[in-house]
Amino acid sequence: MVIMDKKLFIKTWGCQMNDYDSKRMADVLRSLGYETVSEPDDADMIILNTCHIREKATDKVFSELGRLKVHKDNKKDTIMAVAGCVAQAEGDFIMKRAPYVDMVFGPQTYHLLPEMVIKATGQRVVNTDFPVEDKFDALPSENKGNGLTAFVAVQEGCDKFCTYCVVPYTRGAEYSRPVSQIIDECKRVAKEGVKEVTLLGQNVNAYHGKSSDGGVWGLGELIREIAEINGIERIRYTTSHPNDMEDSLIYAHRDVDKLMPYLHLPVQSGSDEILKAMNRKHSADSYKEIIAKFREVRPDIAISGDFIVGFPGESEQDFEDTIKIVEDIKYASAYSFKYSARPGTPAANMMNLVHDKIASDRLARLQELLNKQQLEFNQNSVGMVVPVLFDKKGRVEGQIHGRTPYNQAIHVAGNERLIGEIVDVKITQARGNSLGGEIVISETTSKQYA
Ligand code: 5AD
Ligand code: SF4
Repeated sequence: MVIMDKKLFIKTWGCQMNDYDSKRMADVLRSLGYETVSEPDDADMIILNTCHIREKATDKVFSELGRLKVHKDNKKDTIMAVAGCVAQAEGDFIMKRAPYVDMVFGPQTYHLLPEMVIKATGQRVVNTDFPVEDKFDALPSENKGNGLTAFVAVQEGCDKFCTYCVVPYTRGAEYSRPVSQIIDECKRVAKEGVKEVTLLGQNVNAYHGKSSDGGVWGLGELIREIAEINGIERIRYTTSHPNDMEDSLIYAHRDVDKLMPYLHLPVQSGSDEILKAMNRKHSADSYKEIIAKFREVRPDIAISGDFIVGFPGESEQDFEDTIKIVEDIKYASAYSFKYSARPGTPAANMMNLVHDKIASDRLARLQELLNKQQLEFNQNSVGMVVPVLFDKKGRVEGQIHGRTPYNQAIHVAGNERLIGEIVDVKITQARGNSLGGEIVISETTSKQYA
């Protein structure tokens, strides 16, 4: 029996992969008697799990470290650790500038945490190696999510080298976990009551994992197998790259009921010139063709994307091309960012920088359009009857919160007992970020959910 007598505080920034990693770090440290707490006071160990993808990442880490230092001052043996992508990219710098930090370690070393913690009690530790296979093999496979939905990492790293992006440097080369490991993890979380799994990967649709028959499976095949697991009712995946899109994944959206009609497929820009400078290796048209294929097999699919404005050399016409592709595609949701030069990436050395004011103005224009499209998507779903997975209480008394298959948040008057259930709901109201609805007893589900 492990005696839980130590307190672990983890602060997480960034993507879902980081959330997932934080949970796994908590899992490994549980074996050393650490219990996760929600406040840093009296913590025996503080981990900052950091993100390097956009602006001022390192500054943010240092200001948070400055704030948290008081806990170490009060309790000298508190272990202060920096993990994640900033740790990977700036490990030595952090150790130099923040002498009170005991440990710095990158995303591929979390399974070595117990060893590192034991060492850190005596000396400072830096570990930014890249043995990614070991990480997945050695991390405990239990996954304590919120109980109903869980992330399952299927792939990590990226070989694409988009010129603005740090991921290939901080997360390393693409690596796919073997099929059997993923299936085991999905079965285990299903037994714990999880109904929805989101398959995670920086380039999730580049998944090509070894199967037990000696072959190699793509994401489409993997999803078909996961759909066979009793208890798993919903499958999602994120994030994909247009060039790794295989037909088996597209057709899974036609054949696999448990696969949710939602696709997050970043395009970044609608201008072929800029896409080229970004080293995306696809064009605006080839992206549109892929979306058209998805819509052919699953007409109601919700499309989501990522955009960067103000990339070096982006002219007004290039930006107009981005507006044009957004108008053509019609997004259900999207994330958009102002370009931020990341040290060590090829784009950081590019000329023709876009003035910050122009970039901000473009971002505002793009976001206005994307918000309008999101509202329209939501408005178009009014009247539909769809299955909703209820996951928590709503903010208003007597209301419960859930997610539609299109990943829209929805609030419904209903009994808390329904949390954890999938129930048919008629959508009655649409706002920008959420829907309102009513539980239906007799109404038939909309065509695609019959
Ligand atoms: N500047 C701005 N946005 C970026 N992203 C990645 N790198 C940068 C950068 N240097 C965005 C991309 C990516 C998302 C996760 O973050 O849109 O898809
Ligand atoms: Fe970064 Fe491009 Fe890889 Fe996505 S595909 S993680 S943007 S390098």
